[in-house]
Amino acid sequence: MKILGAGSLHLIYALLVLLHMQTSIGSNSTTTDDGVKCIKSERQALLAFKQGLVDEHGRLSSWGSEEEKKNCCEWEGVQCSNTTGHITMLNLTAYLYDLHFILRGNLSPSLFKLQHLIFLGLSGNNFNLSHIPESIGSLNKIQHLDLYYCNLSGSLPSQLANLTSLQYLDLSYNNFNSVKNLEWLSRLSYLQYLRLSGNDLSKYFPIINTSSTSLVHLDLGSNNLTTSAFQWLFNFSNSLVSLYLSSNQFRGPIPDTFSHMTFLEELDLSNNQFEGEIPKSFWSGNLSSLRNLNLRKNRLSGTIPKGIGLLSKLEALSISFNSFNGVITEKHFSTLYNLRGLDLSSNHLSFNFSCNWIPPFQLKYILLGSCKLGPGFPSWLQTQRSYKYLNISATGISDSIPIWFGNLPSTARGLDLSSNQIRGILPDFSRNFSSDSSDLGIDTSGNHLEGPLPSFPANTTHINLSKNSFNGSISSLCAITDMSLEFLDLSRNQLFGELPDCMMRWSSLRILNLANNHFFGKIPSFVGFLSLIETFDLQNNSLSGKIPGSLRNCSKLQFLGLSNNRLSGIIPSWIGERLNSLNFLLLKSNYFIGEIPLETCQLTNILLLDLSNNSLSGHIPWCIGDLTALARKDITAQHHFFNSSLVSINYRSYADKASIVWKGIEYPFENLTLQRTIDLSSNKLTGEIPGQISSLSEMHQLNLSRNHLIGRIPPDIGQIRQLESLDLSHNRLSGRLPLSMSQLYSLSKLDLSYNNFSGRIPTSTQMDTFNASAFAGNPTLCGPPLTPSCPGDEKLIDDGVKYNQQDKDEFWKAFQPSMKLGMAFGFLGVLALKIDHPWKHVCLLLSNYMKVYLSNLKGYLCLIVSALCLVITVSAARLRRKLKF
Ligand SMILES: *[C@@H]1O[C@H](CO)[C@@H](O)[C@H](O)[C@H]1NC(C)=O
Ligand SMILES: *[C@@H]1O[C@H](CO)[C@@H](O)[C@H](O)[C@H]1NC(C)=O
Ligand SMILES: *[C@@H]1O[C@H](CO)[C@@H](O)[C@H](O)[C@H]1NC(C)=O
Ligand SMILES: *[C@@H]1O[C@H](CO)[C@@H](O)[C@H](O)[C@H]1NC(C)=O
Ligand SMILES: *[C@@H]1O[C@H](CO)[C@@H](O)[C@H](O)[C@H]1NC(C)=O
Ligand SMILES: *[C@@H]1O[C@H](CO)[C@@H](O)[C@H](O)[C@H]1NC(C)=O
Ligand SMILES: *[C@@H]1O[C@H](CO)[C@@H](O)[C@H](O)[C@H]1NC(C)=O
Ligand SMILES: *[C@@H]1O[C@H](CO)[C@@H](O)[C@H](O)[C@H]1NC(C)=O
Ligand SMILES: *[C@@H]1O[C@H](CO)[C@@H](O)[C@H](O)[C@H]1NC(C)=O
Repeated sequence: MKILGAGSLHLIYALLVLLHMQTSIGSNSTTTDDGVKCIKSERQALLAFKQGLVDEHGRLSSWGSEEEKKNCCEWEGVQCSNTTGHITMLNLTAYLYDLHFILRGNLSPSLFKLQHLIFLGLSGNNFNLSHIPESIGSLNKIQHLDLYYCNLSGSLPSQLANLTSLQYLDLSYNNFNSVKNLEWLSRLSYLQYLRLSGNDLSKYFPIINTSSTSLVHLDLGSNNLTTSAFQWLFNFSNSLVSLYLSSNQFRGPIPDTFSHMTFLEELDLSNNQFEGEIPKSFWSGNLSSLRNLNLRKNRLSGTIPKGIGLLSKLEALSISFNSFNGVITEKHFSTLYNLRGLDLSSNHLSFNFSCNWIPPFQLKYILLGSCKLGPGFPSWLQTQRSYKYLNISATGISDSIPIWFGNLPSTARGLDLSSNQIRGILPDFSRNFSSDSSDLGIDTSGNHLEGPLPSFPANTTHINLSKNSFNGSISSLCAITDMSLEFLDLSRNQLFGELPDCMMRWSSLRILNLANNHFFGKIPSFVGFLSLIETFDLQNNSLSGKIPGSLRNCSKLQFLGLSNNRLSGIIPSWIGERLNSLNFLLLKSNYFIGEIPLETCQLTNILLLDLSNNSLSGHIPWCIGDLTALARKDITAQHHFFNSSLVSINYRSYADKASIVWKGIEYPFENLTLQRTIDLSSNKLTGEIPGQISSLSEMHQLNLSRNHLIGRIPPDIGQIRQLESLDLSHNRLSGRLPLSMSQLYSLSKLDLSYNNFSGRIPTSTQMDTFNASAFAGNPTLCGPPLTPSCPGDEKLIDDGVKYNQQDKDEFWKAFQPSMKLGMAFGFLGVLALKIDHPWKHVCLLLSNYMKVYLSNLKGYLCLIVSALCLVITVSAARLRRKLKF
């Protein structure tokens, strides 16, 4: 949070330079009636510059060689001197949020023929990784050079040293990946304002020469700087007014030396790894000009001394996300009359104020999340009549919401009261929220609020009332007529009724979560109007009817959750054809019938496909291997990010949530990005398990239980290396269990019970961890853990080579990747079988056991043991022969 950010100073400074230009130029105004005619060579230079650019939106349409456009002093962004006619200012600054202003293309060297430029602003345009031409050195009159965020690259030319009139220089956030040196900085003796953030300058700071400049404003954020940069920095102790060093690699204690910067008004050390206490010298009077202190996101600790009151000019204090502890009392604040922003969140601080405390300040930002404020609702908030943001989330308040709280200040834009135990009825916010803002939000999730939903102002963007006890219908939200609503989470309440048609007006909606309520009726066809929707979660309600066809228009859907309702009809084929962004398709526990459409295989981003507990019939689509996200590590569920300015509130990013069921118990996914699942259990599916399923190598859970599946388990199932849980129980599967199963090293849950599997249960360290219940109900399955041995085991002794020809084939198949080691081992195994000696059983057992390890290091060990075993067996056989005969 930058309350008075670099931006505002930036602007003020630009205006000052401009003012200076106007007065020095304007004093000799000899303008003729037909206006200033621009100088031909400069016009040509500008046209050459334009030539290198793609001007998609016609921003430079006033620039041209036509007769009526001859006067380049009237071109967009150009200003000429009234006396000399030279171009003195070129301002093509682009608004980053408005594509119409952005020019793309080359930074042509011809631009630097404009040698009389005093002001050059190109920030925000995209120069396509151009280098800064060396000819920039010819701009020897330039005072203001702004190349912020221009997609420039290469090195910073040493010719920058020629720009000796520079007072303002912003080169931040480009891709200067080969900065040769920063020597040129020391020549810029008038430089007052320097921004170099977002360039990796760390290696220059130990060697940079002391500059003779008197820097006033310095921004070196995001530069990977380490403490070795301090020496250079402290050269400016006597001039610096603002210093931004956020997001670097500073460690250790904050140096005392900062407190020698007696003119300092703004100090930003946020997002580093400073540790220990705030130096005592900060409070002892020298920094008395400080207005903005930002120490957010470090590893600072200790208590907040009452001396903070000496910083009486302080307007913004941010120390959130550290490990400060202790108690904050009225004394800390008694002299902070000017405080406007207070951010103490995410520390171990508690507040102890008398209940009639009247603070000396009126805050705009009150960010106290995770501080201990409760159990009572903090009454001093009643005195704050101009805040924009209030965050008192997780502050231990267990109180009913006071009536006065409903009377919000007219400035309020964002409220976060989440994760407390606040009781009562939410006041009607519709009238007293700020009305001149298009960005309003409220989060009261995780409390004990009850009663009907309140009304909200027309232009609310974010509403999270989840995990409370609200009841009644949601029609009061219909007052939100505007297109602004982006985020609505009402999940886990007691809401009921049909979903109102008014929701179709919320065409900006991206997240709609109404799960775990009592909504009934049909899913209205309005959902088709929500063309930006990414998450549509209606799970655990009582909705009925079909999936509306209009949903096919919601092509941005990543999460479609309709589980646990009373929906019926078929699963439409357009889900696969049109909703290709889906990561999660949750249709569990409804009344869906018919086949799983083949088009479902087109969901190449699907991570979790749950169609379980319906009445689906037919075969599992043979093309199931096309669900390629289940075979790729690089596709993960994305959080949903919002551009909302409601920085203090938690919903900048939203992660979808779901759960899976194992043996009737529901497990929430802690981290959805990690869980790749197919669950088709409890349907009426027939036919075989498609062999293609083995190619889904990054799948974590596969549940096909409780269907009518026949045939064998695909022999290559061991290729699903990440498989953690496999449930094929209650089907009619048969045949031997593939040996490749012993390669499922991550398998921690297995259920193959109640099928017709036969033969020996493969062994491996992983397989051996399952108990008999995993294999129960398969009458002809044998071996541990079901039975000590298999019926054929005795016969093996006489008929060794024939034994297990089938298993051997599978064995080879499964171990093709393990190549030579496997072959060597197989050879040993076959040899052992040829020898007529009781020890060969030991060898056989050993070899069975070692198969599992073939692909890891232990394989080598096993190979050696096995070879030894063979040698011993062979020698024993010889010895026996010798002794016998
Ligand atoms: C210089 O020219 C500009 C544009 O023609 C005009 O707006 C401005 O007032 C002039 N300045 C003076 C001091 O005459
Ligand atoms: C103003 O005019 C005078 C004389 O006409 C000249 O000496 C001076 O340089 C001019 N000033 C500017 C800023 O052009
Ligand atoms: C430069 O242009 C931008 C965008 O049009 C404008 O916001 C800014 O005030 C201009 N700066 C100056 C000094 O004229
Ligand atoms: C940007 O650079 C690439 C490669 O250098 C080039 O192909 C492309 O045409 C350039 N785009 C513009 C708008 O100049
Ligand atoms: C910078 O330019 C390169 C080359 O055209 C382009 O690939 C890249 O996306 C641009 N970066 C930004 C942030 O626009
Ligand atoms: C830099 O300045 C020097 C001396 O003023 C001049 O000789 C040289 O040509 C300039 N360099 C560039 C690239 O303009
Ligand atoms: C900082 O250093 C790390 C590793 O050296 C690098 O990956 C990262 O890009 C650097 N950051 C910046 C802003 O240059
Ligand atoms: C917000 O809504 C109010 C009430 O409808 C309206 O007066 C105001 O213009 C809206 N503000 C914005 C920025 O949309
Ligand atoms: C989820 O797991 C991914 C990958 O390990 C990790 O980057 C991410 O931070 C985790 N998210 C949460 C919310 O734990």
